[in-house]
Amino acid sequence: MRRTVHDVEERRDFIKRLSVFAVTCAAVPATLACSGHEAEAQSQHPSTIEIAGPQEPGARIHLSGTIVDANGKPVPGVKMFLYHTDATGYYSRPVNNPRQARLRGTLWSNTSGQYSFHTIRPAHYGDVSSPPAIHIHVHLQPPDLPEHWVESFYFEDDPRLGSEGLSRNRDLGRFANVVSLSSSDTGVLKGVRDFRIDRVVAERNKI
Ligand SMILES: [Fe+2]
Repeated sequence: MRRTVHDVEERRDFIKRLSVFAVTCAAVPATLACSGHEAEAQSQHPSTIEIAGPQEPGARIHLSGTIVDANGKPVPGVKMFLYHTDATGYYSRPVNNPRQARLRGTLWSNTSGQYSFHTIRPAHYGDVSSPPAIHIHVHLQPPDLPEHWVESFYFEDDPRLGSEGLSRNRDLGRFANVVSLSSSDTGVLKGVRDFRIDRVVAERNKI
């Protein structure tokens, strides 16, 4: 996937000063409700979060998947940090600064390596004439590896995605970072992406 200098700079210089959202079980949809010890763990290290609240303008999306190691075994406790633009293409206002992204959140993969988050579909950057494709930035921090950035989520129906990127993405199978969104009964657009922890990538892209 083609990356702009802007994107790389964002990733290099981000995260540690940011506070994060931690959404408790009570705040997630009823279908995802949890209980007992699981609820306590979920409230402290939620595997499901809501980045954009119900009042946030934009199309509702739900992305989910499983994080596995090099052998395909699910990895629990992987910290995932996400941030993206709003439906007008801005990370923040009045100054558009990805380091102060308003729509951001942190989750941790559960005991089965699963994660999910609810948010709105971002928009193309609103302050550049030729913006990159719509994307959601992702940082991963496995329990035994440094925090590092990985390829952003992109969306298959985005006209700004190049054909080269789409073609290469198909070879990645379940680990493809270009996500296909499909409508659900509730009108929420749903997509799936799995992650495979890669030590080489973690060292190369560490933050
Ligand atoms: Fe970005």
